[in-house]
Amino acid sequence: MLTESFPRVILSHTPTPLERLDNLSADYQTNIWIKRDDCTGLAFGGNKSRQLEFYIGHARSLGADMLLTTGAVQSNHVRMTVAAARKMDMEVEVQLEHRVDRDQPEYHKSGNPFLVKLMGAKIHYYPLGEDEDGADQAMVERAEELKKAGKQPYVIPLSNARIPYGALGYVDAAEETLKQLEDLGISPMRFFLPTGSASTHAGFLLGLVASSCSIPVQGVCVRREAVSQQQRVLTKIDSIAELMSLPMKVVADQVICDDRFLAPGYGHSNTATQNAIELLARREGILLDPTYSGKAFAAVVDALLKGDLGHDDHIVFLHTGGTPSLFAYPELVSDNREGFQI
Ligand SMILES: Cc1ncc(COP(=O)(O)O)c(C=O)c1O
Repeated sequence: MLTESFPRVILSHTPTPLERLDNLSADYQTNIWIKRDDCTGLAFGGNKSRQLEFYIGHARSLGADMLLTTGAVQSNHVRMTVAAARKMDMEVEVQLEHRVDRDQPEYHKSGNPFLVKLMGAKIHYYPLGEDEDGADQAMVERAEELKKAGKQPYVIPLSNARIPYGALGYVDAAEETLKQLEDLGISPMRFFLPTGSASTHAGFLLGLVASSCSIPVQGVCVRREAVSQQQRVLTKIDSIAELMSLPMKVVADQVICDDRFLAPGYGHSNTATQNAIELLARREGILLDPTYSGKAFAAVVDALLKGDLGHDDHIVFLHTGGTPSLFAYPELVSDNREGFQI
């Protein structure tokens, strides 16, 4: 394993399954695979547990006894950080940012914030929406206060300015997926995944490139437009490659960012995303979410509808989880919504 020398803790059930979606594959006369990182096991699962393994490994190597992090009100990262802290018997404080303008009480009370409260984290609120550096800085300042009180806090950052230890989890995930594909004797045409803070995209792509694999990875933007997301992924790849002392360089052409399903913005759904969520739920009984995995699967559905994929072609969708936030979007099952027809 490429990440062997880094401190880590074990939080995830791995390898996660790589399954063929038989019903949808039959519907569209091709081969659609799903990598079930929604099944990593920690408090409803999702991609963040692979990332937290390396953040907490680093935190413990520094003697930390407490975790601090920040995210949107329906952040899966925040929910899983709290769960990880509980599992590792660490104290935890989180900050919820006002990133998404939604008045519905479900958004503020159900899904992830419900689970964060259930697991008993201390919650701070950050009034601004798009202020990543400011939100991280507020946590750093809180950490300073805690240090004065004799605690050993560790801040898990979101901004790209800090060392992305979490991305190492997706270097591992790439190696794990390649092994599964090799065992199945399959060489897919493309991977699809959501790209937000970019740790998943950057780690996965670097893991493939470092394994001499050139299968394209389509990162579906969930927070910012393609041009700035591509830059963010490249910066993160450079940081991880440096951290791992890897000699290879990933160039802009290898970083595919697709922002067609982003509008109207982070944390807001759209028709293509709702259709994608409904399709996978109704044909396969697999649940997605409107902020991350649903948007990424909308890109898969788009490829299927275009009919570009042949009988013998294979694609792999990385399901990163996020399903607790479904309960924050009751409009997904509103009576006047027309169902998606295949
Ligand atoms: C369910 C889910 N999928 C995908 C992502 C995006 O992953 P990354 O932040 O590593 O780009 C997130 C980030 O919060 C997430 O919660």
